[in-house]
Amino acid sequence: MVKGVVLAGGTGSRLDPLTRITNKHLLPIYDRPMIEYAIEALVGAGVEEIMIVTGGTHAGEFLRLLGNGHAYGCDRLLYAYQERPGGIAEALGLAEHFVEQGRCVVMLADNVFERSLRPAVEHFRGQEYGGRILLAREDDREHLRHLGVPELDADGRLVRIIEKPEEPPSDYAVTGVYFYDGAVWDVLPSLAPSGRGELEITDVNNWYVERSAMQYDVVEGFWGDAGESIDAYYAVNDFVRRNGANR
Ligand code: G1P
Repeated sequence: MVKGVVLAGGTGSRLDPLTRITNKHLLPIYDRPMIEYAIEALVGAGVEEIMIVTGGTHAGEFLRLLGNGHAYGCDRLLYAYQERPGGIAEALGLAEHFVEQGRCVVMLADNVFERSLRPAVEHFRGQEYGGRILLAREDDREHLRHLGVPELDADGRLVRIIEKPEEPPSDYAVTGVYFYDGAVWDVLPSLAPSGRGELEITDVNNWYVERSAMQYDVVEGFWGDAGESIDAYYAVNDFVRRNGANR
C-alpha cells in the first residue's frame, strides 16, 4: 500500500506578513484553504491513508478544517507535530511510524497541479524498488534558480539534482511530490543540514539518484508552488480560479 504524507509546516517566511497570522497552507487558493488541494490530489490518486505533518502556533486549525478526513474521502487521516521548522526531510521523519516499512508518496502542501496524480502513483506502484519524482517543464531560467533542478544525461537519465542552482542544468523543475520505498528511513538519519540550516529533500532524492534507483515522470498541465513568493501565490490562485485543479 502507498501511504500519503502531506508536509504543511515551515515558517512561510516568503509570504510574510500573511503567514504571521496563520499557517501558509491555510491561506486561500481561490475558494478553499491551500491544503485541501493536496488532500484532494492524493485521494483522487487512490491514496486514502494520509498523515499531515505541521507545526507552529496554528497547527490546531488543520484539525478543525479537515477533522478525521472522511469528508475528503480519506480512510484515515493522522497528524504529526513538528516542534521547530527543520526542513522538509526532517518533517518527513515524523511520519516514519505511520508509513512503517511500506511505501509512501510525500507531497508539499503548497504544490498545486492541474492534472490528476493518478498516473504517477500507478507508475510508482509498478516500480519494484526505489524512488520517483515529478518534474515540470519550466522555461523561465530565473524561476528555476528558486527550485530544485535535475541534470539529465543524453538519454534522459537523472545525473543529479541541484537545489536552487545559479546555473540551472536543465529546463525542468523538481516539483514537491516524491515517492519513496522503505530505504528512505535509513537515508534521513544520514543527512547533514544545508546552508539554510535545513535537512533538504534534494539530498534524499540524490541518495536515490546516486544508486540509479530514482525514476521520474514529467507532469502535464499546470504546476505551481504557491509558497514560493507572493507572485507565485497569485499565479496559482489565478490559474485555479479559471481552470480548477486535480482534474
Ligand atoms: C522545495 C524543494 C525544491 C522543490 C520545491 C518545489 O523548495 O527544496 O527542490 O523544487 O520545494 O515546490 P522550498 O519550497 O523548500 O524552497
